[in-house]
Amino acid sequence: MNNSDKIRYVGMNDRQTVLFEHQWPVPEGVSYNSYLVVDDKIALIDTAAAAFKDEFISNIKEEIGDRKIDYLVVNHMEPDHSALQAVIRNEYPDCTIVTNAKAVPMIEGYQGLTDNIKVIKEGESISLGGTTLQFYMIPMVHWPETMVTWCPEEKTAFSGDAFGCFRAVPDGCLVDGFVDFKEEITRYYASIVGKYGQTVQAALRKVSPLGIERICPTHGPVWEKDIPEVVGWYDRLSAAKLERGVTIAYGSMYGNTAKAAQAIAQELENKGITVKLHDLCEENYSYALADVFLYDTLIVGSPTYNAGIFPPVQSFMEALKARGVKNRRFAAFGSYTWAGMSVKLLNAIAAEMQFETVHDGLSFAQGYNADKFNASEIADLLI
Ligand code: FEO
Repeated sequence: MNNSDKIRYVGMNDRQTVLFEHQWPVPEGVSYNSYLVVDDKIALIDTAAAAFKDEFISNIKEEIGDRKIDYLVVNHMEPDHSALQAVIRNEYPDCTIVTNAKAVPMIEGYQGLTDNIKVIKEGESISLGGTTLQFYMIPMVHWPETMVTWCPEEKTAFSGDAFGCFRAVPDGCLVDGFVDFKEEITRYYASIVGKYGQTVQAALRKVSPLGIERICPTHGPVWEKDIPEVVGWYDRLSAAKLERGVTIAYGSMYGNTAKAAQAIAQELENKGITVKLHDLCEENYSYALADVFLYDTLIVGSPTYNAGIFPPVQSFMEALKARGVKNRRFAAFGSYTWAGMSVKLLNAIAAEMQFETVHDGLSFAQGYNADKFNASEIADLLI
C-alpha cells in the first residue's frame, strides 16, 4: 500500500473456489481483504473465509510478530469476512470486538461469541494512539449490519463490500487498476450488490464529504489514484445511468432460438448498435446481468417449455426481478412446437418490471427459418 506504514494488508487470494457464494463463477479468483491498523494499539478490520485460517494468522504474525490485536472491527458479517472471528478471539483472547448493534446477534449466531463486544453507534470512534477509527452505518451494502470504518489521519475508508470486485489481486493487494478490474467490478456489483442501488447511493452521499484518499474494500484492489473512477462507476451502476446498447440473453434447447438470437444480433450490429449476446445455457447468468446494468435495452429469447419459459431463462428473469431492475426497453422472441407461450410470459414479466416493450415479440413454430424470421422488425425499432 502506498504511503502508509500504519495500514497493513493481511488478506489473501482465493484461486480454488469455482463458484463464489456457490453461484457466481470466479475464473480469475477473488480476494478476501483484511487490514491491520497498527499504532499504540492494533485493530484488525474484518477477517476472512474459513478455508484460509492458517494463511490469515500467518499474515498477521508476519506484520505484528508477537504484538497483540486490541480490537477486531466487524464491518460486515457475511462469512467470507467473518468466518475467522472465533479463531482471532482464540489467538488474542483479550481482543475487543467493535461493531454495531445489528451485528451482535449475527456474531453470536455464526461464531458463538458474546463477550467483550463494544457496541458503537453512528459517528462514534475509538483511538489507537495517534490514529482514530470512526464508524458510519451503510445498511444494506450489502447486509443490514454493514458499516464503513473511517480513519481520518490516514484519510482511509474501510468500505466493506462497497467498491469491491471479483478477481484475485497480484501480490496480495494491488493498489488501483480500474481499467483492468472494471468488468469484474460490474459483474460483482450486478451479482452481489445490484439489489441495493438506492442504499449504495445513500452510502455514497454519506462518505463523499469525508475527503477519502484511500479505499480499502473487502474484495479486489485498494483504491487510491483511481478513486474517482471506481466511485464514479459505482455511482453509475447504482443510479442506473445506462448506455445505449442491447443485451440479448437467450436459452435454446435445439438451436432454433439461438439462431434467432444471432439473427437479431446481426441486424443490430449492421445498424451500428452495441450488442452483447449471452447464451444462458452456456454461461452463468451473472455475465448477462452485468450487461443489463450497463445498457438500456434487453431482448430475451426462450423456447416454450412445459407451457412456460425455458428454466435457464426463467432463472435469469427471476434474477432481474430480485434486483428490482426497471426501465429498460424490452422485446422477447422464441420458438415453440405446438403452443407458443414463452413470449407472452416474458412480456408479462417485463410489464411487471415496468419495462417498455418496444415490440410484441417474435415467436415462431418449430425450426428457425431465416426467410420467415424477420429479425429487422425488432432491430428497426431500436435505432
Ligand atoms: Fe464479501 Fe457481503 O460479503
